[in-house]
Amino acid sequence: MAKPKKHKKSGKKVTRYTYDDIKEPRTPETGHTSLLPAEEQVVTLPMDNGWSKAIKVGKLPEGEERTVIVDMDPAADPVLFWAGKRNRREVPVLPLQRNEIVSESRIAQIIERARRAAEEKSGAARQGHLFADLEKTLRESDRSKRVEFYTHEEGWKNKLICGDSLQVMESLLHYENQRGRVQMIYLDPPYGIDYNSNFQKLIGTGRNDDDDSDRADDVLTIKAFRDTWSLGVHSYLSYLRERLYLCRDLLSESGGIFLQISEANLHLCRSMMDEVFGYSNFAAQILFRKSGGLTAATLNRVGDYLVWYFKDAEQGRSAYRQLFRRKVPGDEGATQYRYVLLTDGTIRELSDEELARCAENELVAHDNVTSQGNPVYEFRFRGRLFKGPFKPPPERLQALAEMGRLCVVGNTLRYVRRLTDFPWFEVNQLWEDTGVSGFGRPKVYAVQTSDLVVERCISMTTRPGELVLDPTIGSGTTALAAERLGRRWIGIDSSRVAINTARWELLRTLFPHYRLRNGRPTGDFEYEASPRIRMSGLIDGKEPERVELFDRPVPDQSAIRVCGPFEVMSLGRYSVEDWKGYVVGEPAITYGEPAKLENYIEVICRLYRKDAAIQGATGLVHAVAETEKDRIAISVGPLLGRVTGKQINDAVQDALASGILEVHVLGWAFEANVGEVKSQLEKRGRVKVELIMIRPDTLAEGLKATQPEMLFSPLALPDIEVAAVKDGKEKHLRVTLKGVALFDRKRRTTEYKAADSGYVSAWYLDEDYDGDCFVDCQMFFDFKKTPNIKAALKAEVDPEEFTLKLDSQPFSVRGYKRIAVKVVDVYGNESTIVRDI
Ligand SMILES: C[S@@+](CC[C@H](N)C(=O)[O-])C[C@H]1O[C@@H](n2cnc3c(N)ncnc32)[C@H](O)[C@@H]1O
Repeated sequence: MAKPKKHKKSGKKVTRYTYDDIKEPRTPETGHTSLLPAEEQVVTLPMDNGWSKAIKVGKLPEGEERTVIVDMDPAADPVLFWAGKRNRREVPVLPLQRNEIVSESRIAQIIERARRAAEEKSGAARQGHLFADLEKTLRESDRSKRVEFYTHEEGWKNKLICGDSLQVMESLLHYENQRGRVQMIYLDPPYGIDYNSNFQKLIGTGRNDDDDSDRADDVLTIKAFRDTWSLGVHSYLSYLRERLYLCRDLLSESGGIFLQISEANLHLCRSMMDEVFGYSNFAAQILFRKSGGLTAATLNRVGDYLVWYFKDAEQGRSAYRQLFRRKVPGDEGATQYRYVLLTDGTIRELSDEELARCAENELVAHDNVTSQGNPVYEFRFRGRLFKGPFKPPPERLQALAEMGRLCVVGNTLRYVRRLTDFPWFEVNQLWEDTGVSGFGRPKVYAVQTSDLVVERCISMTTRPGELVLDPTIGSGTTALAAERLGRRWIGIDSSRVAINTARWELLRTLFPHYRLRNGRPTGDFEYEASPRIRMSGLIDGKEPERVELFDRPVPDQSAIRVCGPFEVMSLGRYSVEDWKGYVVGEPAITYGEPAKLENYIEVICRLYRKDAAIQGATGLVHAVAETEKDRIAISVGPLLGRVTGKQINDAVQDALASGILEVHVLGWAFEANVGEVKSQLEKRGRVKVELIMIRPDTLAEGLKATQPEMLFSPLALPDIEVAAVKDGKEKHLRVTLKGVALFDRKRRTTEYKAADSGYVSAWYLDEDYDGDCFVDCQMFFDFKKTPNIKAALKAEVDPEEFTLKLDSQPFSVRGYKRIAVKVVDVYGNESTIVRDI
């Protein structure tokens, strides 16, 4: 764990949890992905539990010739059928690449500055690097070693990964060595009922009711939609099943998965999970209350379901930790405690009003003190004689009487149970207390799960330091819950809005610092515990049992905690292979199979320049457009990854080899350093490089004849100003964000908007950019809710700190003499500019 900084005079320590004791293979950084072996590109997803065989069932609607294939044998077990159900699917395996390391936390920096300001009594305190250790290691690590990916190990860092869960999970298995390493998966996919309900277009609104033209427009989201919906519920089930098989492979033998789903498709999902995980590995089905209900024609909907399966029930059950909820008089778990004990040894039932007023330690219930098979004897209590097969022997029954544990109900002697004997009841499969968003987190995502739901799943099934995966992380609820509870986490989402919302949530949240048993989260926490007094214990004269409350780790009041370091990743690798079968034509013309685009490169190149002559499959010049005046080489970036500096470089070399001096590189997304690569190539003379963004709606419109100039726009970088400032004797730099390039979807133009025009969601500064991986040194965004940290800090925080500032803190020039600024607009688009200083 990172060493906490002590601030004796100025409030609490600031800590964070790290997991250097757990090793993982080193993942490639931006631009280095081509070093990987070429032959491991496609794997066959085995979606088969061993007993199925291929059969053909059903016909397509009239007019269609092909039969629908279902590779399942219904004779073995009852299973679901749907159009297009297959036992195998080819998936390209793309390595992940690390684009960014978040080594600091915004809230930690604010705290640090407030403290220094208080200590120095001057408002000009410099940017604090509370956790400079990790950044230092990153900067100083041997760069030659840093390109030897997957050959050596490094300390674990949590991961936020932008990409389709199918490819990302395959990559986690294939490259990242995570097979069998995940202890719990929380999967909250689209529910398979309404496309629009799942995708939020703007960061931070918490709504998905933007007007029609404002629907999600990023290409991965659109692709995710098409995969999920082209055949309605048939595609949905195929989509989910493929991912469930990957989840099973990632789970450890004692691990488990929770699928969040609404009642509309609950029955289908449960059958499918029986098939994938095995009926005998079913753990429980939980109904949890949501914050907002749905009005229905019959019974209104008040909750959703969690379907919970183990990888292996026996091992899963032995790793399970029972949780408890506090008993509330009159409510679930405490309905029998509605009596008080009277001085004559009888009990009296309370009215509802009396119950509400009664002190908890007076409330009692009564229980059997006899049990068949015990020796029958007579016992005198309060002057009355009782006879029965009493559980305790006479002298212990007398002891119970002296302890005030016996009462008379009618003509029977009964045992007195007190609510305070154990003021907790076991968490069961009905969670009606989850209707509020736990810990007061504001709603930032339209389909945000309550923190409490995910935290409960984590606490029941994992221990601190174990790994939690969410393949559809949305606003980051699972990452936040795992971070709060000291579990390692991986979050995946295909939407940029989701990834940026999750990052933002992590950077601005304060967590309690829980007391660790041996200094590291992997060694578990100290938990609150409650004595449990039982009749059997009193009879045997034993001390009450001590029950640990595993969802109540003990906070260390002298510390507050911020988010640990994490990496932001995406799928890497450019190669023609990666695109095969991954762009869709009109989905309606295919039935029962994923739609395919026959030639992605050809379509994109032709849309860009009608006259483009497509080149062979080798090399990175994919097409050449030739007029009398010019000759242009066109290179197209991958659908699932970003255009790298290396692709640009290679395309230019290929073009020069053919005597072409102008290269246009088209891409959906670009890596941070591409502007720099372009200017370096151009500086050498001769060649001109254009970087062209393919507009997200190119595919959304089904590749219909749209004006090419509307589909492409030059890659626009953020507008920044770097100025020297004097800070005492030292000279420092300050970056000011002036503007952001924004694509106007209605007018289909790229425009510069002023940085304070409301279009910037967040911006990040790497003070010493090494050209590979963006390290977040400073970060700026609005806090949705101002955290109350004054008491913890013993220092005032300037309220301005919680708003989106456009000037950075002053910083000194360091080793690489280069900075990078990444801007995220409100639509989740990222653009990065690199500047030598
Ligand atoms: C119901 S939301 C999850 C919300 C999340 N539980 C939360 O609390 O914020 C579903 C998420 O799945 C994502 N998604 C849909 N299809 C996906 C895919 N194929 N791969 C990765 N993410 C996907 C959507 O972008 C959306 O954020």
